[in-house]
Amino acid sequence: MCMSMKVLLCISGASGVIYGYRLLKALSEMENVEPYLVVSEAARGIMDLELDVDPEEMKALAKTCYEPDDMGAPPASGSALYDAVVIAPCSVSTLSKVAAGIGDNLITRAAAVALKEGKKLILVPRETPLSIIHLQNMVIVSSAGGTMLPASPAFYGNPKTIEDMVDHIVGKILDSMGLENQIYPRWESDHRTSV
Ligand SMILES: Cc1cc2nc3c(=O)[nH]c(=O)nc-3n(C[C@H](O)[C@H](O)[C@H](O)COP(=O)(O)O)c2cc1C
Repeated sequence: MCMSMKVLLCISGASGVIYGYRLLKALSEMENVEPYLVVSEAARGIMDLELDVDPEEMKALAKTCYEPDDMGAPPASGSALYDAVVIAPCSVSTLSKVAAGIGDNLITRAAAVALKEGKKLILVPRETPLSIIHLQNMVIVSSAGGTMLPASPAFYGNPKTIEDMVDHIVGKILDSMGLENQIYPRWESDHRTSV
């Protein structure tokens, strides 16, 4: 029997909500993945500003979409057995709460659950520059078993569009979860020209 991978995608209130949208789209197209979604209050405002996508259309890509204040929803409990929790983009506010073990909404609680249950947790911050507080919080999350995957796309694939750049990070997130994908061009040494 082939089991589906349960992935909770959380979109928090950082610029770059397109990372969350493109990741959700990619996950929804994978046969062996069940994507679940939580969008923070702050992220909803930023989606209005940055993303030309109908929120209802986006929600429809997920198996279930939970409210960020619904602390009784399955992702709040380790017994719900999510295989991975991804926060993309991850605001530094949410990063700081995760580092401090604060679970004051469904996103921060799900992250705390992933860490305590030894499940995959991936945080995708966009913020720049970073203060010592942000950097130390990243070290704490990483030491606790989380993966810090900053939204810093590479250029060796000669991206032509914003989507190409976003998909580089989406591909890295999928790689980190062990999900096979061809969403971004991988480096091959015969791509070298004069280097
Ligand atoms: C237009 C806009 C862009 C923002 N961009 C960022 C950002 O890139 N990174 C960040 O950490 N916070 C950013 N913020 C601030 C967060 O939205 C704010 O700290 C919020 O409380 C985060 O809440 P959440 O983590 O629960 O989603 C932005 C806010 C606005 C209004």
